[in-house]
Formats: sequence, structure tokens, C-alpha cells
Amino acid sequence: MKNQQLHERRSKVIAQGMGALYPLYVEKAENAHVWDVDGNKYIDFAAGIAVTNTGHSHPRITEAVKAQIENFSHTCAMVTPYESFVELAEKLTELAPGDTEKKAIFLTTGAEAVENAVKVARAHTGRSGVIAFKGGFHGRTNMTMGLTGKVAPYKAGFGPFPNEIFHAPYPNAFHGISTQDSLQALEDLFACDIEPSRVAAIIFEPVQGEGGFYQAPKDFAEAVRALCDKHGILLIADEIQTGFARTGKMFATEHIGIEPDMMTMAKGIAGGFPISAVVGKAHVMDSALPGGLGGTYAGSPLGCIAGLEVLKIIEEEQLCAKAQGIGEVVNARMTALQKQVPAIGEIRTIGAMMAIEFTDPQTQQPLQDVTKAVIAKAQENGLILLSCGVKANVIRLLPPLTIESEVLAEGLDKLEAIILDVAK
Ligand SMILES: Cc1ncc(COP(=O)(O)O)c(C=O)c1O
Repeated sequence: MKNQQLHERRSKVIAQGMGALYPLYVEKAENAHVWDVDGNKYIDFAAGIAVTNTGHSHPRITEAVKAQIENFSHTCAMVTPYESFVELAEKLTELAPGDTEKKAIFLTTGAEAVENAVKVARAHTGRSGVIAFKGGFHGRTNMTMGLTGKVAPYKAGFGPFPNEIFHAPYPNAFHGISTQDSLQALEDLFACDIEPSRVAAIIFEPVQGEGGFYQAPKDFAEAVRALCDKHGILLIADEIQTGFARTGKMFATEHIGIEPDMMTMAKGIAGGFPISAVVGKAHVMDSALPGGLGGTYAGSPLGCIAGLEVLKIIEEEQLCAKAQGIGEVVNARMTALQKQVPAIGEIRTIGAMMAIEFTDPQTQQPLQDVTKAVIAKAQENGLILLSCGVKANVIRLLPPLTIESEVLAEGLDKLEAIILDVAK
């Protein structure tokens, strides 16, 4: 009842553009469980969109943030900074893949991190062009909408977007786009749209998130790295959804063995406290004038202190290995289910970044309705699920990496029953 009342109140005062997947209002959340205001209990396979990798309300994060609030909650790191701001930068610059000396900046949201990475790339190269990928998602601000390669709902009605942005196809074996096709498309952009000497950066997600959980093949990443080196273009890895142990490594770039010039980080960085970062090669990161990067809340003390706890938890609770284990369990269960449900076109698990794509077995057309029905049935079955995919036909599973194995199994029982119900 309370859920319904709140939903009615919400509809009156919140603009519809700020969508709500579930009419479910949260009272409490703990590790992989969420309780709503009507006392219903859910297993959370969304983790606030890959944010609470360390579980809801991890006691260590809660304690650290409480202690921080008792000391101070804000001074602005650009005015009078604090130790946690420096320490988190020290830790992240050390963890970022590659041997080159690194520096960091902190922001508040993922989109802001991407915006700032592009600013740094332009300041460093003196060039304006940026190449992104079809199916990519980089945020909802003007520049990041421009970079995003998915129209509805992210770009529809919101143009014009900044100019000098170009999109190439992202390799996607399931949909017949090879590494070679993508590389050829980049060469075509250089021939038809913008000369490489005017391109500041190529930005890519090592695993496309909103686009449908497709992983960049190693040979593609290596070829793009080489292309960037050849033309003096900076390579930006957007690790906002993939970072912080989600894919079984601290960063997904580690699967493909390249060193990007800059990485964007957010979401899992601080277990739910709003902070984001750009970490990159020191000589690149130092290209902007003092005061040109940052923001009032950038590198908030609450985010920094939470971020430091997240890093300790990832190491001590071995969350990279746990992510790997979760992926294996889910892959085995869903592969068995696929034998009974031909509408499951593909199962992709990169650690605990896991997706089920629904396609018509005869025509290979995307099955949006099945995906919608699975999402709709989840709530009544006590499960929180997300969809994704350019064609909106993918269910993505992003449980906290701290999920207990019996809770994961129970969540998968529910998911299997729902899929059998709507898709068999
Ligand atoms: C890869 C990627 N980049 C950027 C963003 C934008 O982050 P935010 O919503 O915090 O602005 C997201 C959010 O989903 C993302 O997945």
C-alpha cells in the first residue's frame, strides 16, 4: 500500500524523464537484500547499477563515513583539502593498469569524469575530435550524450550535441561485427570524416554496459592502442560500470592487457557515495591549467573515506575472485536453462558483469517483449533486475560481489522460474 501511495505522490512531482524501473520504495538494504516500505524483501541483482559492489551498508563503510561526518562533511577539496583525498589518489594511481606514472582528479558523477577526461585530452593534444562507439554509454550531460551511441532514451529530443564527435561500430561477435570490421570503420572515419591529426581521443568501454555487456576483444584493444600511438591520439577507457572488481579484475582493461592514457571511474568506487575520478598518465593529466578541473563537491571527504574502505574490502574479502566465482555459477545455471529456452540467444559473463540476451531463435530478431516481461515479473517474485542493450533485449545481472552463495542460488531460482514462465 505504502509503495503505491508513494508512487502516486512521485508521479505528481517527479518529471517522467527521470524514469523508475520499479514502483518499489526502499526502507532498508543490507548486503544483497533490499526491503521495501511494505515490508517485502528482495534479492538485489542490480546493486544500484553496479555501485554497491561491496554490498549494501557494508559495516566498515558505514562506520568510516559516520566518523568522517562527525569531523567534517565538506570543505571543498580545491580550497582546503584533507588526507583521504590524497590517499585515495595515491591508491588509485597505483592500481591503474600500466607502468607509466599516473595522476588523478576527482569529480562527483560518472558523466563528469568523462567530460573532464575529454577536456584533458583536448588540452593535452590541442585537438578537438573525439571518437566513441555505437552502443556505448557515457552519461547524460551534453558532451557525454554526444559520445553515447544509443538514441532512445538518452539522446532523443536533446540535440544538438557538441560537434566533432564520431561513432564507429564496436566489435560484437554475436551480431556479426568483427574486430576487422570495427578497425576498418575507424579507418573510414579518418578517410571520410576527420583526419587523425585532429582527433584528441578515442573513448571506449572495455565492456559495453548500457549497450548490452559486450567485451572488447584483446586484438581489437591492442589495434586501437597502436592506432592511437601512431596518430598521437589519447585512448580513454571508460571503466565507470566495469571497475572495482566487477569483472573479476580490479579494472576490465586488465583483461585486454593495454594501458589507456586515461581511465574514468565512478559507481563501484565508493559503495554508493557520490564520487568519480579520472586517472591517467601524469604528463597528460597535468595539461589543464590550475582551477580548470574539479568542482565544488569534487572529491568529497565522504566519498574519499568510503573509497578507501572499498579498496580495503575488495582486497581483504577477495572480491575479484568472488566476482569470477559468481560469473561461473551464473553461466553454468543459465547455460543449462538455455537448453530449455531457445529464446536465450546468448549468455555473457565477464566476472560478475553478466547478461542474458533474448533473441528469436528463427529470425534472430531482438525479443524486447520477453525482456520487459522478465523485468516486470521480477518484483512480484522478490527480485530486482535491470535490462540493457541498444535493442532493449538484454537482462543484466549485477549482484553485489559480497552476495552469499545461498542468496545467489535463491535469486537464480527465482530468475529461472520467471524466464521459464515468460520465455519458454
Ligand atoms: C560506462 C558508463 N559511463 C558513464 C556513465 C555515467 O555515469 P553517471 O550516471 O554517474 O553520470 C555510466 C552510467 O551508467 C556508465 O555506465
